[in-house]
Amino acid sequence: MAADAKTLKKEAARAALGHVESGMKLGIGTGSTAEEFVRLLAAGVAEGLDVVGVPTSERTEALCRELSVPLTTLDETPELDLTVDGADEVGPGLALIKGGGGALLREKIVAAASERMIVIADESKLVETLGRFPLPIEVNTFGLRATMLAIGAAGRRFGLTGEIAIRGTEARPFLTDGGHVIVDASFGRIPATRAFADELNAIPGVVEHGLFIGLASLAILAGKNGIRTIDA
Ligand code: A5P
Repeated sequence: MAADAKTLKKEAARAALGHVESGMKLGIGTGSTAEEFVRLLAAGVAEGLDVVGVPTSERTEALCRELSVPLTTLDETPELDLTVDGADEVGPGLALIKGGGGALLREKIVAAASERMIVIADESKLVETLGRFPLPIEVNTFGLRATMLAIGAAGRRFGLTGEIAIRGTEARPFLTDGGHVIVDASFGRIPATRAFADELNAIPGVVEHGLFIGLASLAILAGKNGIRTIDA
């Protein structure tokens, strides 16, 4: 019988746990795959694995507390050994799209503070070009419409068009842990990933975007034929 998605996520998480050693300071990701990792990590901790983690969202923090995974903050522990996190897409060079769960800002800060980042996912997340998954962009609530127009204009300069939608509803937008709004940009394939990331970074109302470039060092992808790893 074909392994279901939850089983694959768990297998990828289990393989990532093999990279965790006692004494490590960890960044702990957000999302359903990262949650599988937290559950396995908690079991390891219960058996004596001595680690401390920085959660990338309030949701992950709550799960870690529930399962007694020792936590710290990035202020207390600003340099981390390893972050383990999921992704919405894994592209060439381990460029990623993240933010489907709305935690991209803290995820990127934590990943950037880590010596290594391991991405865990089922193999359906592997793509030839990023962009099938709508790109999450975290924006300040002030001037939201103006920022959305600027994002649309930035897209057109790269030949990218498509709907740019506020996550949630206009009246009740989804708010991130940082109190910002997410807009999801359905641009389709984004070939000039790095240049477009820079273009988005130059828009004042953009707090952060879901293009993660040069952050992941290893991807662990679980599929029906087993685990596949890709180095950056
Ligand atoms: C959270 O903001 C995201 O970046 C997640 O890491 C990403 O959406 C992957 O989530 P799943 O593991 O649930 O697919």
